[in-house]
Amino acid sequence: MRSILLLNAKGGCGKTTMATNIAAYYALKGKKVVLADFDPQGSSTDWLDARPADRPPIRGLEAWQNAVRVPKNTEYLIMDSPAGVSGRPLANLVQRADSILIPILPSPIDIRAAEHFIGQLNALRRVLNTQVKLATVANRVRENTLAAGDLDDYLGMIKLPNGKKVPYLSLLRASQNYIRAAETGLSIFEFSPARTEYDRDSWRRIFRWLNSKRSLPNRPA
Ligand SMILES: Nc1ncnc2c1ncn2[C@@H]1O[C@H](COP(=O)(O)OP(=O)(O)OP(=O)(O)O)[C@@H](O)[C@H]1O
Ligand SMILES: [Mg+2]
Repeated sequence: MRSILLLNAKGGCGKTTMATNIAAYYALKGKKVVLADFDPQGSSTDWLDARPADRPPIRGLEAWQNAVRVPKNTEYLIMDSPAGVSGRPLANLVQRADSILIPILPSPIDIRAAEHFIGQLNALRRVLNTQVKLATVANRVRENTLAAGDLDDYLGMIKLPNGKKVPYLSLLRASQNYIRAAETGLSIFEFSPARTEYDRDSWRRIFRWLNSKRSLPNRPA
């Protein structure tokens, strides 16, 4: 089973947006997907409640209040986390994940805060002795905020203390498509390709990473 965690201490950066779109993407591919909502706000759970019955199914887990029991045949576990998570709850999340995607809003303050958070996460990774892989994604990028080239410079430079760069995968633009998808229990992958061409394109590098060994912990052979 692949487990993917959406994580950033910062609120409103796109954890739920990315979790729901990733869950739907794999469900559309016919995979058995569980969307575990670790946020007591229940935004992923609300999204799933709104999901039309004729769409590829995704199983929801209200993980903030119940023990996390993932059905045995699950192929993808997508975990949506709350803002401000730290301490033991953060360690529990990180321990369950193969791959952590960190959505970041494209402002210098948010990028610096994310860099700080990634430093903490790396320290935790060492304490927990896990090989979980991290990557960043810029989200809600507007034409009048940072230019794509500046984002490459800022986010492409985030390094771990050992000098290794944290992969910066892609930028998702601010788009009504994400807002409409959030309201209707759908993903951008379920809207017409013509309307979502740009957005789908931005996701290609994210899925290339998720579908490659680069996003998997190095496990002993
Ligand atoms: N790329 C985007 N374009 C337009 N709106 C977006 C985009 N990403 C997120 N949003 C909107 O921004 C708001 C916050 O996004 P989201 O809920 O995904 O963030 P979050 O990190 O899960 O927040 P929280 O920390 O509160 O759980 C939502 O209303 C969402 O629909
Ligand atoms: Mg959320």
